[in-house]
Amino acid sequence: MKLLIVGAGAMSEALVQGWVASGFAREDITMTNRSGGIRLTEVAARHGVQTVEQEDVSLYDLVMLGMQPDGVLDYVANQQWTNQTIVSIAAHITPYEIEQLAKRPTVAAMPNTPVAHRLGMTGLWFGSRVNEEIRSVVEALFGRVGEIAEANESTMPAFMAAAGCSPAFFYEVVAGMVPVLTDAGFEEGNARRIVAQAMKGSAEILMRSDASTDRLIADVAAPGGPTDRGVQVLRERHLFDTMQAALRESSREADE
Ligand SMILES: NC(=O)c1ccc[n+]([C@@H]2O[C@H](COP(=O)([O-])OP(=O)(O)OC[C@H]3O[C@@H](n4cnc5c(N)ncnc54)[C@H](OP(=O)(O)O)[C@@H]3O)[C@@H](O)[C@H]2O)c1
Repeated sequence: MKLLIVGAGAMSEALVQGWVASGFAREDITMTNRSGGIRLTEVAARHGVQTVEQEDVSLYDLVMLGMQPDGVLDYVANQQWTNQTIVSIAAHITPYEIEQLAKRPTVAAMPNTPVAHRLGMTGLWFGSRVNEEIRSVVEALFGRVGEIAEANESTMPAFMAAAGCSPAFFYEVVAGMVPVLTDAGFEEGNARRIVAQAMKGSAEILMRSDASTDRLIADVAAPGGPTDRGVQVLRERHLFDTMQAALRESSREADE
């Protein structure tokens, strides 16, 4: 499958890194951006993929739109589409808007940056022109770099906040915890490693266990013990309200 990636930003690069690591043939991946230049050349060189400055979308089987949302529809309207499948990763652009312009099957995908390490979480919202075969191709493409979940018009905003935006929330949580370790004498990088590994291990348990989160907390927190007292602090300071407000804010379109 010949893949064109339009946009050489952080998210496109994370996907290319993950796809190459998954065994996707480098010679079948081509990247382009608006300005050409050093960023495009550097990203492509880092991952050994091809670049093109003036792309012809008709030469590819699948075209992934990885530019900022405000450029997507103009770009789509100005291309000569033939037999391509289109995947847009732009927030708040629906597959139907693209299908209307391109008359090609479109999937709105919402990946997150952990796709770089094949630990991504990608939401897939299938347009009305997508058949079973195309659906399987796109599911397999994003399945190479992590987990996938189907989303739709109603669920995509919450999905985007919970998976696309949440890495930044988790980094914020880590940044909040690290000073306690550095104050105790750990060097910063080591402190970050300690917290990140605890987070990664907890995520693994969450993925593998059917137990409720209350049950998992009880497994760690003996009543009145140090964990229990820490959890009480989180509750007294309204962590749930804070997390839910952050997710709701991130799910909201900026101009709402
Ligand atoms: N970052 C994330 O975690 C994340 C997660 C999920 C989805 N997304 C979505 O991914 C998209 C890209 O995000 P990003 O963080 O990677 O952005 P970014 O770092 O700003 O990169 C945007 C890229 O798109 C290129 N571009 C812009 N307009 C173009 C056009 N008309 N034709 C060709 N290339 C064009 C830019 O090239 P020039 O420099 O040449 O303009 C740049 O390489 C956004 O739509 C965002 O909603 C991002």
